[in-house]
Amino acid sequence: MPALVGLAVVSLLAGGLTPASAENSRALYRDASAPVPQRVDDLMSRMSVEDKLGQMVQIERDAAGPADVADHRIGSVLSGGGSTPTPNTPEAWADMYDRYQRAALDTPLGIPVLYGVDAVHGHNNVRTATIFPHNIGLGATRNPWLVRRVGAATAEEVAATGIDWTFSPCLCVARNDRWGRTYESFGEAPWLASTMSEEITGYQGHRLGDDPTSIMATAKHYVGDGGTTGGVDQGDTRLSERELRRIHLEPFRAAIERDVASVMVSYSSWNGTPLHAHRYLIRDVLKRELGFDGVVLSDYDAIHQLDGDDSTLTASEVRRSINSGLDMIMLSTDHERFLHLLRQEVSAGTIPMSRIDDAVRRVLTKKFEMGLFERPFAQRDLLSTVGSDEHRALARQAVRESQTLLENDGVLPLSPEEDKVFVAGSNADDIGNQSGGWTISWQGSSGAITEGTTILEGIRQVSDAPVTYDREGDGIDSSYDAAIAVVGEKPYAEYRGDSPEGVRLSRQDLDTIAKLRESGVPVAVVLVSGRPVEVTEHVDDWNALLASWLPGTQGGGVADVLFGEYDPTGKLPVTWMRSYEQQPINVGDRKDPLYPFGYGLSYRN
Ligand code: GLC
Repeated sequence: MPALVGLAVVSLLAGGLTPASAENSRALYRDASAPVPQRVDDLMSRMSVEDKLGQMVQIERDAAGPADVADHRIGSVLSGGGSTPTPNTPEAWADMYDRYQRAALDTPLGIPVLYGVDAVHGHNNVRTATIFPHNIGLGATRNPWLVRRVGAATAEEVAATGIDWTFSPCLCVARNDRWGRTYESFGEAPWLASTMSEEITGYQGHRLGDDPTSIMATAKHYVGDGGTTGGVDQGDTRLSERELRRIHLEPFRAAIERDVASVMVSYSSWNGTPLHAHRYLIRDVLKRELGFDGVVLSDYDAIHQLDGDDSTLTASEVRRSINSGLDMIMLSTDHERFLHLLRQEVSAGTIPMSRIDDAVRRVLTKKFEMGLFERPFAQRDLLSTVGSDEHRALARQAVRESQTLLENDGVLPLSPEEDKVFVAGSNADDIGNQSGGWTISWQGSSGAITEGTTILEGIRQVSDAPVTYDREGDGIDSSYDAAIAVVGEKPYAEYRGDSPEGVRLSRQDLDTIAKLRESGVPVAVVLVSGRPVEVTEHVDDWNALLASWLPGTQGGGVADVLFGEYDPTGKLPVTWMRSYEQQPINVGDRKDPLYPFGYGLSYRN
């Protein structure tokens, strides 16, 4: 065994590192062949209270640099949406990660940090990364094996930059499409989210840490975030416990069966009690009844909301959240205040040391399982996978399978050889719009924000005949065989996407479609959106309607369906309402939708 420890020391030195301390470098917790529980016990026996409390903090990179993280013995760092190094390149991410890791390893116990990001549809903060369809499109595929492969490809690109942890998949069950996070849901049926939790195995592998590309997954947001009244983000889910369990809890059971490494708690409330202070649902149901043994993580500054005043963190908020069972607290800033209040509560005995030990044990267990003590740095040999042809081909297949054909009078499929096509619309040539929120920035944005193929570029690649494009439809005439209008939503994320009045096409989009129709040319409408859009009064005037969802960077997959390279197989993951006044409208509630849950045409039928 000493030889092995010696090897560990040599490898640390080879990495330009000074071992944490000579004595600790020979400690049992450094022995990779020892069982994880014994390594955890040994390490915890060596930790001061300060060492332990620091492990319960996850701080935004903007608020704490490597030295600060090391000085406070902080256990985890995150990049919130759009919090990127400059330049925003995979190599710069790996350099940033390794700087945090080196500082953490250079402390007496040398406990590595866990770094987390929202890689929710690819490594979406990073320019040049492959951006996959958002979850609502993946739900339309009904293909969990494809979704697992999406998770695995994402994990490769994430691990290449060093990052250990993705705050994904969102297993929210979206029950009211006014909700701004509907597109982060796999759909309105619990079984669909449960099935698609297969993505966890893609991220983690069959056993966390067994493969160098394995990253921690996060089932979020526990529990009932998609069921808030009126679809208000971070609102109140008013349901009986039976209904809460039937609709919103089941996907978390499936995630735990897949050994998900962490669960993120929801900002929302259940019958008026905030989830971040819900001891019954976290400690009794999640940890005890469902047997969840991973890390329960807060949402971003979520505990600041518990006392009603978001601005100031209070002792009561720290006490209530930790005693409710949260193990790690995600903070934008305030880590020193949080640690001061936590220390105060522990000293006063209002947070028992046993609760702290449970939390720290869970965090350290994941660090050992991830192999962080043995493999602390970015897997730079994987950098070539970021945005690779292989991953983009997989993304294109995911786009194909997500496309959901809702109307078609025969205008589709187009002929690549013969059809003279005119393309128009606000979302035809815009990578940012077709990727949606959580892309390069938190909210996403229009424009050429990263590398990829717009839907127009995809059409031009697939069609052999010349393709004419004008965003507004100017220049259309009867010489064309078909017109394609690519329209829909512009990027948003979270509460900024809440739409209490419902979602309809903009005047600009409707004018563009009208201009195309005036030429007498058949019009196929391609709807790029994160949720159903109210189209009832217009759809009879259209020759085809294709729900494209938020396809990401590989717009060629949309063109493949339009030109029959791929026969559409997508099935609605959410009921498509006649009018927003029908919301919430979900499978089984016997309302009369425009298109029911599970609906989708192919070219054969
Ligand atoms: C956000 C989201 C959550 C995300 C976290 C970190 O507010 O609610 O889904 O993982 O912050 O960016």
